[in-house]
Amino acid sequence: MALELNHLLLLCRAGFERECAVEIQERAAVVGVYGFPRFKGESGYVEFVCQQANGAVQIMQRIDWRSLVFTRQWAACIAPLTDIPRNDRVGFFLQHLDGFPQCGEVWIEAADSEVGSGLQGLCRKLVPPLAAALRKAGVLTAKRDTHLERLYIGWMNESQVFIGLADPHLASPWPQGVMRLKFPPAAPSRSTLKLEEAWLFFLTEEARQAMLKPGMKAVDLGASPGGWTWQLANRYMKTTSVDNGPMDDALMAGGMVTHVEGDGFTYVPDRPVDWMVCDIADKPARVIDLMTKWITRGWCRYTVFNLKLPMQKRYTTYQQCLEVLQAGCAEAELNVHIEARHLYHDREEITLFVCRDEDWRRVNGLS
Ligand SMILES: C[S@@+](CC[C@H](N)C(=O)[O-])C[C@H]1O[C@@H](n2cnc3c(N)ncnc32)[C@H](O)[C@@H]1O
Repeated sequence: MALELNHLLLLCRAGFERECAVEIQERAAVVGVYGFPRFKGESGYVEFVCQQANGAVQIMQRIDWRSLVFTRQWAACIAPLTDIPRNDRVGFFLQHLDGFPQCGEVWIEAADSEVGSGLQGLCRKLVPPLAAALRKAGVLTAKRDTHLERLYIGWMNESQVFIGLADPHLASPWPQGVMRLKFPPAAPSRSTLKLEEAWLFFLTEEARQAMLKPGMKAVDLGASPGGWTWQLANRYMKTTSVDNGPMDDALMAGGMVTHVEGDGFTYVPDRPVDWMVCDIADKPARVIDLMTKWITRGWCRYTVFNLKLPMQKRYTTYQQCLEVLQAGCAEAELNVHIEARHLYHDREEITLFVCRDEDWRRVNGLS
């Protein structure tokens, strides 16, 4: 029987299944693939069941995984398997690989959830014996090949396992789609990892080199105690940190930072800066108006900011904010490059990166 991959498995942060489901259904319809999502709250994953044959593969080919806000990782799968025998899991998986092409790697992953954390040990333990059996059966190349399809096994709970494929060029390179970063001990707060992850996720290597240069000027709105400011100062950017709260003493002693004890919503820079970052915990509608003002008035070239999403209507709130930003830029006749992502280090918030389209094209050598 020909292989049909009609079930798209999507991993997300536990508690954000609804947003992940709504987003994929909407985006899939735009690229001509129809289906319906299935999910349970706090499970950390969504199954999107496609109506057409190989719909899951088509979605992966037609949508850039990086453009999805709430999906961390995905794979195109056959219908989930149930009743996995405890005594011969390897044999069980081998029986269900009819029609699969030769793969370059096998990944076995659990969701990033309470249930998933109990399954991670099992997933890890299963890789060596399964990989050996797959090699023997010719399903896996003798040597790891990261250009070939990735055989993906998503162990979502004791009795539901997804088997599928992920083209490594069309899926996240990080296990569970999670970029794990080491906390820099000198940084004043764990929030520092949000900005670091944002730069690593949104900016290409070329963009990082061009956009994060020593000597640049930066403003950090809602800066206290200084985790984001630390990232800017660590790259030798002269930074103005706006917050009524206190800044970390050691950070201030470094001489790169000026602390303005004031309101980020009324602060206006003396002259345009390269970066404005904003982690103010306030209503998303207020924050997006502020960000739109900074971008359209040319007060900054590049920006990374957070939108705290309310418990209810998180996806709608994100969309409304995006519309406000896009409308503001259109009115100012400004073409902008916008990316948004629910980063691993984000909690009840998402992070956006915005810059002028011409800058994005220039730093990435695009015509
Ligand atoms: C999540 S914390 C910022 C953490 C910071 N990014 C870091 O890495 O350490 C949010 C900050 O927003 C500040 N804040 C809230 N409203 C503000 C406003 N109107 N103007 C400036 N800062 C504000 C709070 O004082 C708080 O320090």
